[in-house]
Amino acid sequence: MQETSTMNRLAIFGGQPAFKEPLHVGRPNIGDRQSFEQRVTDILDRRWLTNGGPYVRELEKRIAELIGVRHCIAMCNATVALEIAIRALGMKGEVIVPSFTFVATAHALKWQEITPVFCDIDPRTHTLDPACVERMITPLTTGIVGVHLWGQTCNVDALEDIARRRGLKLLFDSAHAFACSYKGRMVGGFGAAEVFSFHATKFINTLEGGAVVTNDDELARKIRLMKNFGFTYYDNVDYIGTNGKMNEVSAAMGLTNLESMHDFIASNRRNYQQYRNALSSLPGIRFMTYDETEKCNYQYVILEIDEATAGLSRDELQKVLWAENVLARRYFYPGCHCVEPYRSYFPNAGLLLPETEKLTGRVMALPTGTAIGPDEVKRICEIVVLALAHGPAVHERLQQLEDANTPAPVGN
Ligand SMILES: Cc1ncc(COP(=O)(O)O)c(C=O)c1O
Repeated sequence: MQETSTMNRLAIFGGQPAFKEPLHVGRPNIGDRQSFEQRVTDILDRRWLTNGGPYVRELEKRIAELIGVRHCIAMCNATVALEIAIRALGMKGEVIVPSFTFVATAHALKWQEITPVFCDIDPRTHTLDPACVERMITPLTTGIVGVHLWGQTCNVDALEDIARRRGLKLLFDSAHAFACSYKGRMVGGFGAAEVFSFHATKFINTLEGGAVVTNDDELARKIRLMKNFGFTYYDNVDYIGTNGKMNEVSAAMGLTNLESMHDFIASNRRNYQQYRNALSSLPGIRFMTYDETEKCNYQYVILEIDEATAGLSRDELQKVLWAENVLARRYFYPGCHCVEPYRSYFPNAGLLLPETEKLTGRVMALPTGTAIGPDEVKRICEIVVLALAHGPAVHERLQQLEDANTPAPVGN
């Protein structure tokens, strides 16, 4: 009885939702508005809106300096940046990628008729397991695309070693890892090239945007041509290319946000620590921690829910949170190998991806960023703690709700 009345405080069982407005994962961080508005005014005054304008060049210079790489090529988004980098590297045939990533990583290959070969991950870091990578190599393999998921870096040394020994191109999808480091060196300088995303949901955004960074002069030259239709001069095209350019307003947003980068990281870190203190010792929860000796952007707060111990599943906890207006996300569910066209091409891929299959059913991302403060985090943690304290009972009541909402079979 006592348990029932406690559980009734949850919105899913009739209580008041904890928040009036939805709390999103990845609500954009926005730097100083006046600086941004001033830059937009400059752009309009100059009438130089795109095509390698001064703000794009300044942003490229700032990023290259921050990362410590020779070249940064800003682009319209990370998906196009991945496609161009993959093409410029001459990848073809088969390329090894994790399935546990945003679908753009796989699509950037398949878009140009390269077969993504899905490889399992290290359950501790959620990034490519080098031993599995080695096992997936065939005579058709030309490259590896590692993903530094959540800003957790791949085992870069092991992947670079495999690429060197087996003559493969190595590219990193570093969409989540801007301003993170690996063994004290900034992400961006590893493999042949790395790709950042500055999408609105990323901790530094350019509205939409991305960049390729590399220390390879020839590769950088090729990528610059490819992202601008292959133009070398006004009327001269030397290469097959596409349109991957970043525009000036995006670059203005990027420059403005870079100026607040340390504040954004401080907010993310404060939220992460508060979540960690409240949730990491709960039974059935594994809280993804970051190596405190490395640089990290802390832009993702990631939980794994073990149903057997917690008494309720990740999906059930998500239902509880959504009813409270906490829009926690099942990133990256159900895994690339379970969506089209990959599901039809490789119906048995899951047999080789046991860790991926396990994780896609357990992982949840919680809201963070500058739009969320200590009060919101406290309230979200209270809901998670309450739901988990009564895990089996919450599970049972959710089942009853579901049964009540399932229409009875129509007989004849
Ligand atoms: C791991 C990963 N790769 C690639 C992308 C694609 O980035 P964009 O939206 O800038 O094209 C994303 C975007 O969320 C991502 O999470």
